Amino acid sequence: MSILEVNDLSVKFRVRDGEVAAVNKVSFALEKGEILGVVGESGSGKSQLVLSMLGLLASNGEASGSVKFDGQELIGMKPAALNEIRGDRVSMIFQDPMTCLNGYLTIAKQMTEVLMLHKGMDYQTALARSTEMLDAVKIPDAKNRVKRYPHEFSGGMRQRVMIAMSLLCKPDLLIADEPTTALDVTVQAQIIELLNDLKEDLGMSIIMITHDLGVIAGISDNVLVMYASRAVEYAPVHGLFESPNHPYTKALLRSIPRLDKAGQEDLYAIPGNPPNLLHLPQGCAFAERCDHQKEKCLEDRPLLRSVSDGRQKACHLDVLP
Ligand SMILES: Nc1ncnc2c1ncn2[C@@H]1O[C@H](COP(=O)(O)OP(=O)(O)OP(=O)(O)O)[C@@H](O)[C@H]1O
Ligand SMILES: [Mg+2]
Repeated sequence: MSILEVNDLSVKFRVRDGEVAAVNKVSFALEKGEILGVVGESGSGKSQLVLSMLGLLASNGEASGSVKFDGQELIGMKPAALNEIRGDRVSMIFQDPMTCLNGYLTIAKQMTEVLMLHKGMDYQTALARSTEMLDAVKIPDAKNRVKRYPHEFSGGMRQRVMIAMSLLCKPDLLIADEPTTALDVTVQAQIIELLNDLKEDLGMSIIMITHDLGVIAGISDNVLVMYASRAVEYAPVHGLFESPNHPYTKALLRSIPRLDKAGQEDLYAIPGNPPNLLHLPQGCAFAERCDHQKEKCLEDRPLLRSVSDGRQKACHLDVLP
């Protein structure tokens, strides 16, 4: 059985001018020990997709559809029940570390509390385990630093503290929203290695949201590509990089530097802008920016459909030229 089954998950935000369709009928499954990479332009709905799963939407937001974690429905679950799962079996690394760290409490206090609450540890055992975890994310002098306050850490260190916190309870599912953006490349590589080890050792499943396609290539088993609130492509990572099936994915890949391709043409920038989520077009949301646009693309919205080798795409074209 999949550890996570997401079906037709949608998120809407009520705003003065109407409704923002932040996530539209996204479906996917995640297996135990699988790492799913989620990519897509800024504003495409990546964060709201995962926040909605854990009941963490802003007050003007509403989720619909189904998210089953280990068979349990999360959408509509009572906050108290969600609280029990969050931070224990499922944990999340937020895009902004200060949303989850409390500035008034020492790191030791914040980390040990989680272990005492969810795992019933005494303070000393919890402190030893917290220090061990800070060591694992390469916080120098963790034994002393653990007694400090969040503002005494640099941005990159805070991000690492948050990664350490999220791993404390050895969750079955880790959701990481841009976990390595504030880190320099060597630390980033160490964190990725740590996550990979945890996946191997604990069979932990991970959803990894990132702008960094290098990180995606290095860590994911499968990749979900989002565009304007919808999933437009889903594929095993190698297939996606070798032969993207959706014009948006192809454009995205062309817009990153490749060290393995000599004599590469200039870096590509996708022309135009993504559509307004208050007024999504009737047809394909990418059509306006697509090199392969046909009349049909403006009229009918292509649904995500299975193609070959476990791959899916939302595009009318059968093969990309
Ligand atoms: N509380 C809110 N009210 C109205 N609209 C919102 C609210 N929160 C998010 N949105 C909108 O939902 C859409 C998706 O946002 P989301 O945070 O998921 O983007 P993202 O893909 O994570 O982008 P980024 O890569 O910049 O983090 C955006 O258009 C955003 O403006
Ligand atoms: Mg985001």
